[in-house]
This record gives sequence, C-alpha cells and structure tokens, in this order.
Amino acid sequence: NAYESLKSKAGNFRIGVATSSNKFNNAGYSQAMANFNYMVAENACKMVGIQPQQGKYDFSQCDAHYNKAKELGMAFRGHCLVWHSMPPSWFENLKGDALKNAMVDHINKTLKYYEGKIDSWDVVNEAIDDSSNGPQWKMRPSFLYQNIPDFVDLAFKTARAASSTTKLFYNDYNTEGIYGKSEAVFNFVKDMKSRNIPIDGVGLQYHVSTQSFPQYEKINDLIGRYCQLGLEVHITEMDVKSGGNASGQAKVYSEALKACLSNSCCKAFLVWGVGDNDSWLGANEAGLLFDSNYQPKAAYNALIETL
Ligand code: XIL
Repeated sequence: NAYESLKSKAGNFRIGVATSSNKFNNAGYSQAMANFNYMVAENACKMVGIQPQQGKYDFSQCDAHYNKAKELGMAFRGHCLVWHSMPPSWFENLKGDALKNAMVDHINKTLKYYEGKIDSWDVVNEAIDDSSNGPQWKMRPSFLYQNIPDFVDLAFKTARAASSTTKLFYNDYNTEGIYGKSEAVFNFVKDMKSRNIPIDGVGLQYHVSTQSFPQYEKINDLIGRYCQLGLEVHITEMDVKSGGNASGQAKVYSEALKACLSNSCCKAFLVWGVGDNDSWLGANEAGLLFDSNYQPKAAYNALIETL
C-alpha cells in the first residue's frame, strides 16, 4: 500500500469495518479491509444468518467472517443477537412463550459457540422507538416488545448467564446527540444499570450525514456521561452521507473519532462497509472511507491524522 494503514496508528485502540464474505475474493476490497484491526460481519452473524430455520443452527457464514478476521490478525465484534428487523420468518411468527424460549435459546447457543472468540456482542439492537424524546424513552412496539415486554432485560440476563466473559452491548441509531432519542437511550441504559441488568457497553451506530451530524462538544459530552455510568462505548456503524462534500465528510469522521479517543471508555470505532460501492446506503451517498475503486478518501486521511 502506498498509504499508511489505520491499524499501524491505532495501537490497542480498535478501528473496525463491517464486511461481507462475498467480496473477500475482490483484491481491492481485501487490501482495503486489511487496514483495520477489528471486523464485524455486516449480516452473517445476525439471527437470519445463524438460525435461518428454527433449531437448525448454522454458524458457517458467521465463521467465514470470523476466520477471515483471524487470518488478517483482526479482532471480531458480534452483531447482533436480538433485533426486531430482518428476523427469520419462523421467529417473527412465534408468539408468547414460544418466542421467548426461542430468543433465549438463540442467545445461549450463539454466545456459547463463540465463547473466548468474540469478546463483545450487541445483545439487543434498536429497541427504542424513534419518537422518543428524552428523558423518557418509549419502547419500539415491535413483535418482540408486544410478546415479551421485558425482552431487553431478559436478553441481557440470559446473555450474562450464558457467558460471564463476553461484553454485552446495547446498540442503536440516532443516539449520537443530535436527536432527542439520544437522551432517551441514555436514560434507558442508565435505568438498566440502576436495576443491575448486566450491560457492559453501548454501541452508537453513528449513521449521519454532512447535513446532520453531532457537534464535537455534544458527542464528547455524551460519551463522557456513558463512561461515568461505568459503561464501555463503541462507535459501531459509522457512515456519513456526503453529497459529494469530501472535506465536510472528513471533518465529521475525524470529530467522531476524536471524541471517542478523548474518553478512555470508548474503545472501538467501526465503519459500516469498506468501499462506497459496498455501502447499504448505495454508492451515490459516498458514505465510507474508501471510494468504489478502494482508493482512500479525505475521510480516511483525516482518521489517520486523528489517531
Ligand atoms: C444493514 C445491512 O448493512 C444491510 O446489508 C441489510 O440489508 C440491512 O441491515 N443498523 C444495524 C445494521 O444495526 O445491522 C444494519 O445493517 C444497518 C442499520
């Protein structure tokens, strides 16, 4: 590579990327991916990837990502155990105790399978409703919440019982300090802590744009308050819709990383895809660190400078 790698500057700090195994044989993709020291599977470790049919656990897709990470000397992040979105259809169709038992079984089997390999998992993803405007949160009225009103507590208690070593995360979007949902999620997590629900960390997804992004002081303050609760923070899925504004995008990325690095409990920073072409947002949004030809963008250089 003609450019410096993120991992060479990151030291023990985790700088990560979401990947899809169907791109692993693309040379540009593979080279770009090797700049990071932390990996998360974009989809393969979700329930739909691991348990496409009830009771038929198939870890092969998630393993393919985990094994690639090990091959490249990267640590691996688990995403995600319980989520209302993208459920396998069998799961979404269950009711009451059958749904509860299936959720518990999935958490148990998956955490035990990856015990000692994956040290942080998103246990619950996106449980708070977008209309929430702190201090009081509102639960998303999903099939999970409707069938199991205490599914979040149950998921974390189950996860802790299954693995005493895995760091257990709550992960959500619009949590970065721009919207009212940020304070709602903060209070939701604070309440969990006060009731001794076993949560170790919070994932701030950080899907933002050059039009709408948190001011540095705001995000720095928010991460600091999570640290005061005794939690670890990961920025888990960053992308920045750029509208062609490469330098504006670079600033948004670097301020996010700077805020994370300024708070000792913020231990990881991950972007949600390798090249713009791979992004769930579509290539036109140019939301990532590498362009569609896997050349590093201004945002990449800004992260190098910030590390
Ligand atoms: C997205 C993936 O990027 C897409 O490929 C998939 O079709 C849908 O899910 N929040 C999350 C991620 O926690 O799991 C989502 O990933 C993006 C939003």
